[in-house]
Formats: sequence, structure tokens, C-alpha cells
Amino acid sequence: MNPFVFKNPTKLVFGKGQNEELANEVKRYGKKVLVVYGGGSIKRNGLYDHVISQLSEINAEVTELAGVEPNPRLTTVRKGIELCRENDIEFILAVGGGSVIDATKAIAVGAKYDGDIWDVITKKDTPSSALPFGTILTLAATGSEMNAGSVITNWETSQKVGWGSPYSFPTFSILDPKNTLSVPEDQTIYGMVDMMSHVIEAYFHHAENTPLQDRIMESILLTVMETAPKLLADLNNIEHRETILYCGTMALNGITQMGLRGDWATHNIEHAVSAVYDIPHAGGLAIIFPHWMRNSLDERIERHVQLATRVLGVDPEGKSDREFALEGIDKLSAFWTELGAPNRLADYDIDESQIDRMAGIAVENGEFGNFRKLNKDDVKKILTEAL
Ligand code: NZQ
Ligand code: ZN
Repeated sequence: MNPFVFKNPTKLVFGKGQNEELANEVKRYGKKVLVVYGGGSIKRNGLYDHVISQLSEINAEVTELAGVEPNPRLTTVRKGIELCRENDIEFILAVGGGSVIDATKAIAVGAKYDGDIWDVITKKDTPSSALPFGTILTLAATGSEMNAGSVITNWETSQKVGWGSPYSFPTFSILDPKNTLSVPEDQTIYGMVDMMSHVIEAYFHHAENTPLQDRIMESILLTVMETAPKLLADLNNIEHRETILYCGTMALNGITQMGLRGDWATHNIEHAVSAVYDIPHAGGLAIIFPHWMRNSLDERIERHVQLATRVLGVDPEGKSDREFALEGIDKLSAFWTELGAPNRLADYDIDESQIDRMAGIAVENGEFGNFRKLNKDDVKKILTEAL
């Protein structure tokens, strides 16, 4: 494995009943609180009222930023930064899914940054501080609750850019599975595809001697695959919600990637697709990932074979490595389709007309992919096969 340093400062407050810890956590950071949330799901499921009542217990002065979009926009981030400045905000509380948390990360950094936050997001400059922020996660998917990553869309320039800094880790994240009970079926499916994709991105790497990392990743995948059908058959099951919530966090809090460098090309391609078409992140991943895998068979096929054997349950009897690996990919794709995820770009009415443009966006910063380097033609091939 590669030498590594690991630090994750986020305090994880996990489990049934942990919503009650909110006031205790927030009171460490100040009274002037900006509460950031999305399109209203927290008002419908009662979480908003709970948050406001906990904050009033500590006499917090609350300012609100509502309406963060799925695939959060730069314009919304800028609005949040303004609110922080106008109201001398001391602490930001994100209540929502990955989009709300990602927007909050950019607001927290932007509030302490003199220039334009887009320069930080596009890595023209590095930040040196941020407002502290915490999260209450409402959707198991991205892992944003316990990592420093954030993905922001600039709709004017058709760019969806991932960034992160040591200042964009949440100080705490409350994960009460109760908050995920109201997640509708489609978002529940996307969330599970997203967390599996995070593990699979990491699984395709070039580091040698990673037996523990491999087993950790395989455990997360097997647990999601075992729980997903049970949860979809019973969306109100708090135990299954809890299991999936924990899997989502463990899939992208850095644990799986100690000592190795995952590929991440599929995420980059998906971000290019959703910079042009406003589609759910993991809907795009479910479509693109199997095609990336088929196009990467010639790179360390043993990684494909190991995944097919240990996770996807393919019987190796009488098959070449290639046949074996291909069967694993088909099984993964079929699993996602059976859950209810899309499997063709046409499912989102995406045709060949924008493929050149999307491929261009994907390679904006040059060739990419740590397991297999992709150029523009490679991306066009993958997207064309995914039509
Ligand atoms: O906006 P509201 O009304 O809250 O509704 C949301 C939204 O419509 C709804 N929802 C969330 N919690 C709910 C709920 N509905 C009912 N009950 C609840 N408890 O779900 C919809 C989707 O929410 P969103 O936050 O967009 O989903 P997700 O968590 O999947 O986040 C997706 C974003 O995260 C980025 C993606 O690119 C995308 O922009 N990613 C962030 C990563 C990171 N920071 O590490 C990594 C990921 O790979 C990903 O790229
Ligand atoms: Zn993802």
C-alpha cells in the first residue's frame, strides 16, 4: 500500500434519538446561526420544527437559507455567503442531503474568503479558514457528512466542480436514521447506488498489498447489496435505514482509501453529464459505471475478477478472466436495474447531440482517472455506449 496520513476531524453523532443532541452540539460554537436547507422536505417531515425548537433552547439567533437545489448552484452559495456577512453568522447548520451539505461547505469557506468563492472551487486559490459548520443528514448517499468534499454547479458556465479543503470538514454530523424515513423510493435507490459507486471507484486502484482495504470495501458493498432489497420492500424499517445510513458514511469518509488512490473517472464523467442535463447524480452513475468498467478490463483485470468473485457472486467455472469479469459487470448493472435505477442515458432523454460537449467538459483539465487515464475519445466512447 502507499504511505498515508489520515485525519478526519468530524464528530459523528450516530443513531436513533441523536436528534436530541443538536442543542448541545451547536451551543459550543455561538449564538448567531445560519440554518441551510433544501426544497422543503424537512418542513414536511417535522425535522425543521425540531431544529428550531432545539435552537431556541439555547437562545440562538436564527437566519435561514432555504431552497438549496439538488446539484447545488453557485448562485445559492453566493446568497448564503451574503447572509453570513450581513448577519455576522458564527455557525452554520446544514439540514439536508448532500446538496445542502455541499452548499454549506462552500458558504462556510466563502464567508471567510475575501475573493470570489468560485476561485476556490475551481482551485485557482486555496482558502485559509472557514466558519464552523455542522450537519444533520437527512439522506444516506454522498458521505458529505463526514468528508471535506463538495460539488457545486455553475449553471451559467455549464460546470459542475468538485473541490475540498481541510476547512470544509463538518465539525459534527448528526445521523439519526429517523430523519431518513421520509426519503422517497427513488432517492433511496439513488443513495444506495451512490454509496456503492464510491466504494467501487476506490476499489479500482493500482496499489499493491491492500487486503484490509479490500475487505472493508467488500463488506460495505455486500452489506448494501444485502440490505437494499429489504429496505425497498419496507421503506419505514428503521433498522434497514440505519444500516444504509452507516454504509453511506463509511463508503466515503476516507476509511476505504487509506493507502490507495481510487479511480474517480466515472464521477467526473457524471459531473459533466449533470452540468449539461440536471439529472440525479447517482442516476447518472448507475448508467455510466458499467460502461466504464467494460472499457477498463485491460487494466489490472485481477481487480475486476476479485470484485466479481467476492462481491458479485460469479461462478468462475470454465470462464476466462475476461468472461468472468464481464459477467460480474452485467450482474452489477442488473442489480442496480432491479432496484429501479436507470440504465441508459435515454432514460433521461439524453441523445447523442451533446456527447461531444459533455466529453469536452469532462476533459477540461486534461486526461483523468487514476486507474485508467481517459481522453476525450474514451469519454465519448463510454457515453455513446451508454446511450
Ligand atoms: O431539497 P429537499 O426538499 O430537502 O429534498 C431533497 C432533494 O429533492 C430530497 N430529500 C433529502 N432528504 C430527504 C428528502 N426527501 C424526503 N425526506 C428526506 N429525509 O432528496 C432530493 C435529493 O437531495 P440531494 O441532497 O440532492 O441528494 P444527495 O444527498 O444524493 O446529494 C447529491 C449531490 O451531492 C453531490 C452530487 O454531485 C449532488 O450534487 N456529491 C457530493 C459528494 C461529496 N460531497 O462528497 C460526493 C458524491 O459523489 C456527489 O458527487
Ligand atoms: Zn457520488
